Amino acid sequence: MTTGARREVLVGPERPVAPGAVGIEEAEEAGLRPRTLGEFVGQGQLVEHLRIVLEAAVQRGQPVDHILFAGPPGLGKTSLAGIVAAELGVGLRVTSGPVLARAGDLASLLTDLQEGDVLFVDEIHRMHRSVEEILYPAMEDAKLDFLIGKGPTARSIRLDLPRFTLVGATTRTGLVSSPLRDRFGFLGRLDLYGVDDLEAIVRRSARILGVDVEPDGARRIADRSRGTPRIANRLLRRVRDFVEVRGDGVVTGDAAERGLELFGIDELGLDKVDRAILDVLCRRFGGRPVGLTTLAQCVGEETDTLEDAYEPFLLQQGLIERTPRGRMATQRAWSHLGLEADERALF
Ligand SMILES: Nc1ncnc2c1ncn2[C@@H]1O[C@H](COP(=O)(O)OP(=O)(O)O)[C@@H](O)[C@H]1O
Ligand SMILES: [Mg+2]
Repeated sequence: MTTGARREVLVGPERPVAPGAVGIEEAEEAGLRPRTLGEFVGQGQLVEHLRIVLEAAVQRGQPVDHILFAGPPGLGKTSLAGIVAAELGVGLRVTSGPVLARAGDLASLLTDLQEGDVLFVDEIHRMHRSVEEILYPAMEDAKLDFLIGKGPTARSIRLDLPRFTLVGATTRTGLVSSPLRDRFGFLGRLDLYGVDDLEAIVRRSARILGVDVEPDGARRIADRSRGTPRIANRLLRRVRDFVEVRGDGVVTGDAAERGLELFGIDELGLDKVDRAILDVLCRRFGGRPVGLTTLAQCVGEETDTLEDAYEPFLLQQGLIERTPRGRMATQRAWSHLGLEADERALF
């Protein structure tokens, strides 16, 4: 039975294609991942804190405290997990909450670790409770508790584990149970990126991919990336397609703008789903508060996806508000759709 784990050593000169990467875009994406803290753009305070935590542990010759990274998708949580292992020069094991179906899956992963290794559990909030309980003594005392047999003859056995560092990632800390959250020594919260950082990320990615991007072009892409590096990279690839087919291969400001428009990205960086959300709130419900479940159904997305991937940016941009009675469009949303807020009465 596979646990979905894999040993992936991220140090070394070449940029390996991620195991399991299926398409060329995934392979390219893996090549764009920053490998060291120095390559990681932005999140200044988090990077600073992390640097200190890692250096102190190396100086003491001890494994690093367990680390939890939290933030919306595409902001660099998985990249940071790889960076932690690479900076420490230790092995990295990768798995995810939903993949660990039974306690035994996690137990076999843990017993297979080597001293000092990093175990990365993505989407750690989706781990089953019974699996999670195995983690507590493992994180605290590097022990694995086993129950052998059943009923009155059952015996509990304790195994020593190598000391390791657990790195967890979650889209929302609120979803991680408090006993688990309390066992992390360091919580790194990732925020949406500013345009300058995104521009630096676009330039870096363009260099790696060999795309000719003018400063103005990088800026336009950064402007429309919803504060998210993964989106910046995706838009860069779409614009690259566009200039290769319709232009001379150079991403100028103008080419970037036309390319993004063609792919349905508007000047705020909103995509079809973002606009559908605003449309439902303004047109369909006429500005009344709408519950999350209803909203998700109307735009054909999961509630989790809506909360994790779409809302943070819409909230940050002041396009929607969360009220006790539901989500509401703001004045800015109405004007963005080219509607007057006092047209409410018409809908
Ligand atoms: N700080 C950063 N600097 C440069 N590139 C980044 C940064 N954060 C994310 N990226 C890019 O965005 C992509 C998505 O990041 P990832 O670590 O997979 O995010 P998450 O795990 O939070 O969803 C990475 O492949 C990488 O290319
Ligand atoms: Mg990830």
